[in-house]
Amino acid sequence: MQVKRILVLGNGGREQALSEAYAKSRGVKQVYVLPGNGLVGVANKKVTALTDEKSDYKAVLAVCRKYAVDLVDVAQDSFLADGLADKLQNAGILAFGPTQKASEIEWSKEYSRKFMQKYHLPSPRFASFSDVQKARSYLSGLPEQPLYIKASGLALGKGAIRADNKKEAVVAISEMQKFGPAGQTFLIEECMTGEEFSYFVICDGQDFVTVGAAQDHKTVLNQDRGENTGGMGAVAPCGIVSAKIAREVEQKIIKPFLLGMAKEGRAYSGVLYAGCMLTQTGVKIVEFNARWGDPEAEVLLPAIQSDYLSIVMAVLEKRLGRAKITVDTKIRVSVAGCSSGYPEDYSAVKGKKISGLEKAAALPGVLLFGSGIVKKQRVFLANGGRVFHLVGVGDSLVEARERVYAAMSMVYIEGNNLQFRTDIGWRDMERTL
Ligand code: GLY
Repeated sequence: MQVKRILVLGNGGREQALSEAYAKSRGVKQVYVLPGNGLVGVANKKVTALTDEKSDYKAVLAVCRKYAVDLVDVAQDSFLADGLADKLQNAGILAFGPTQKASEIEWSKEYSRKFMQKYHLPSPRFASFSDVQKARSYLSGLPEQPLYIKASGLALGKGAIRADNKKEAVVAISEMQKFGPAGQTFLIEECMTGEEFSYFVICDGQDFVTVGAAQDHKTVLNQDRGENTGGMGAVAPCGIVSAKIAREVEQKIIKPFLLGMAKEGRAYSGVLYAGCMLTQTGVKIVEFNARWGDPEAEVLLPAIQSDYLSIVMAVLEKRLGRAKITVDTKIRVSVAGCSSGYPEDYSAVKGKKISGLEKAAALPGVLLFGSGIVKKQRVFLANGGRVFHLVGVGDSLVEARERVYAAMSMVYIEGNNLQFRTDIGWRDMERTL
């Protein structure tokens, strides 16, 4: 089947990076992003944001008909949790993304940890609760130790609270309510110690191809301090993932994951993001996500030299075992440009003007992706916590960092409201000393 028009569902930098990866395919005429953001399509005429269309199932069906869409990429976690990939397939529309049951590996941390336990995937000790009193009495039987209290449902990457002792754990348990239905069930987990990385494979239910690993920087402040965010910047490839570590991830995590999911009747087809930690006793799983990461997508997708659509079609036609994926050898560093106040209260920044973006993106070796941003009468306005992502591309980490931070220095949000981390890639810089 010839795919000419593709619809990508989502609104972040990830979806923009995805749409641009699809647009490179020669046979593709147009890629639509629903709802997209103010930077989608600005520098790539084969890509269009459908910011005025709704994005519930009925609206997506209508958009597919209106724009004669051949393939839908269900790229965002909330759409996967709503079962949009299944619904579209059932309606006879080609859809890329795991089924609702398969993506439960992300949208229920309780299901995910139980699955890991059942199939002996390396993971921390945990217990799950829907009753605060039961959680407290379990806690009182534990020795003093650092713990994580985690909302089971989707919480925009902010649902995990670290507690250094039992007193803090009690407070964290009471905070689960603020996540609404996502926090109704929550987990108490042993706190692992080590360095985190994100490992990405594309699966067809049985086989997989590896895209690579990236390192996200999740907290809002330099030196990994402050609140957790959706991700303040990423680097790929990342130094911690040697060939030996990659083999360990694939043998001990990816292969048993695929076998286990198939056994459960949830054969996993789509992008798998294994959030991993290298601990003293080997690699362990922090979490599984059923999609590309954001900001990891912005540093990994542009590296793919193979035709991305061909890989997706190999998944949909269950012939991934014969497919190959090649990536370039450049280093990419992304930095999220955020509204001041993010991730807490940044409402005052909404609607503030942004200048310098297009000049920054015109620098050599720089890419620009939108996130919480709108374009009105040729002016870019802030419209969210993470507003945009700049990416520096270089032959070395130093060059990539120089490029991205030179670009960032050209951008300004009215009222001095631009916030970003200045140390993205610091761990790999340390490793070069
Ligand atoms: N990198 C964090 C996420 O995509 O969930």
